[in-house]
Amino acid sequence: RGGRHDDHMGNEIDEQPVVARRVLDALAPSIRDGALWNRLGLPPVEEIDRVAVLGCGTSLHAGRALAGVFARVGRIPTRALTASEAAHEVWEPRTLVVAMSQSGETADVLRALDGLPSGHGTVLALTNNTASSLARRADAVIDCLAGPEIGVAATKTFVAQVLTGACVALSGLSVSGRADAAVLDADLSALAATPDALSGALHAWRDRAADLAADLVTASGFLFLGRGAGLVYAAEGALKLKELSYRWAEHHAAGELKHGPLALVDAGTPVFVVDDGDPRLDVDIAEVEARGGRVIRVGERALRVGGLSLQLPRTGPSWGPLETVVPLQLFSRELALRLQRNVDKPRNLAKSVTVA
Ligand code: F6R
Repeated sequence: RGGRHDDHMGNEIDEQPVVARRVLDALAPSIRDGALWNRLGLPPVEEIDRVAVLGCGTSLHAGRALAGVFARVGRIPTRALTASEAAHEVWEPRTLVVAMSQSGETADVLRALDGLPSGHGTVLALTNNTASSLARRADAVIDCLAGPEIGVAATKTFVAQVLTGACVALSGLSVSGRADAAVLDADLSALAATPDALSGALHAWRDRAADLAADLVTASGFLFLGRGAGLVYAAEGALKLKELSYRWAEHHAAGELKHGPLALVDAGTPVFVVDDGDPRLDVDIAEVEARGGRVIRVGERALRVGGLSLQLPRTGPSWGPLETVVPLQLFSRELALRLQRNVDKPRNLAKSVTVA
């Protein structure tokens, strides 16, 4: 299976730094001069008034991360839409629609595109299958370069979609005059650091995730919290956990905790917190711990300098703390293995969902 694990999912998680490197080798050199954007035949960013990103499941989460790039770097009004809920969407002209689907065959996505009036704008397909129905249907296609993904649960395609999307968006924005230059520069540096950040997370969490799964194997429910750009990774963590382990998992904006979900927290309730550097998370964590909840923080800001551990505020990239998905994937897989689930083929699910 080309990896150290007996299951595809474990190997595909491990492959993520290589996938990130492949995406960056292919696309990063043509970001700055807008060549990547132009090669796709997309209209200049000045001619785009809004962006709508469409997808389902994990691809929708990648889409939410990508929406953050258009919104934060370009300040373009951007929304991420659940494809199955897009039927009554009001489409406006000069909209860039980015349709995200690793398989390119997801019926909900194709149906959402059927609802677009003619002359609404441009459809860009971001997919791992450039020979798919979605690719044929779109005005422009970008391959997310993940390579074949066999595990039903999307892992490396998620990372590939976020990075491919970020490269494309940053390319268009770089030459647009609409980009916030400081945010753009920070994003370009973060992009280059991504493969190392992903492999750092793999090394830091491999054993920890296994130990944690052993500890939490009897937990019946899990909460995942995040703020800002971190929220999407909390959502992805909860989705991976439920599909692989068949345990209940919810994600919430940490600020919503006090408006309801805090009632779920009891002695020992596992609460994953995706740390994107927002200092308000410290208060959220204190609220959980005061009720006896067990906080597992991913994406720590702690940095060791000369033997001292410093808590540094971090301004993360506009797509959020991508490397935090790694511990969440690892934990879900470890818990599922302990519960004797088939991690490559969770019950009731299919790799390609061709019914709407
Ligand atoms: C979750 C998962 C699904 C898919 C969703 C969309 O791990 O794999 O949620 O992300 O069915 O599939 P694609 O990307 O093929 O459109």
